[in-house]
Amino acid sequence: MEAQKCPLDLWAYQEIIFEGKPDVIVETGTFNGGSALYLASICDIVRRGKVITVDIEARPGRPQHPRITYLEGASSTNPEVVARVTGMIEKDDAVMVILDSDHSQGHVLDELRAYGPLVTRGQYVIVEDTNVNGHPVLEDFGPGPMEAIEAYLGEGAAFAVDPDKEKFFMTFNPRGFLRRV
Ligand SMILES: C[S@@+](CC[C@H](N)C(=O)[O-])C[C@H]1O[C@@H](n2cnc3c(N)ncnc32)[C@H](O)[C@@H]1O
Repeated sequence: MEAQKCPLDLWAYQEIIFEGKPDVIVETGTFNGGSALYLASICDIVRRGKVITVDIEARPGRPQHPRITYLEGASSTNPEVVARVTGMIEKDDAVMVILDSDHSQGHVLDELRAYGPLVTRGQYVIVEDTNVNGHPVLEDFGPGPMEAIEAYLGEGAAFAVDPDKEKFFMTFNPRGFLRRV
């Protein structure tokens, strides 16, 4: 099952999950479900965690796994979707979030505002594909995830960029690994 991720970023993902052992991983942007299956398999290894993955499109054949819940057919920023995700989180759960849906600045900023507050202290929100709009690829993309992060941090959000998660020298997510402080 295909996952649309840089393998070196997946290495960072498995370190983050091993270290933080989140109870809930929320992913926006399921596509074929390959990344959700990867996340669930790491949860299997650490014997903890469930994956809630949201996509505006329903697709047949997404992998079934007891740790994965698919929310399909509505935008990640739809208030009902955000409420459903929030309702699936228990009071003391450690929560991690991955944003990998529509990569326009406006959408990612809306996602950060909606899902950022769910992330618990010490856990991460990972913003995928911050490398677009000339950082350093796809110069003509227009404002995207990197610009959304700058705007979100500019609002005083309680996250710090963790450059340590870029240690494998190539990442699709420069400045995209944000740790809740
Ligand atoms: C880059 S793909 C996700 C890749 C997947 N996470 C992986 O690593 O294999 C982006 C997905 O976001 C979905 N998407 C686009 N806009 C969306 C929105 N507003 N809300 C939720 N999902 C959206 C698309 O349908 C697509 O499946």
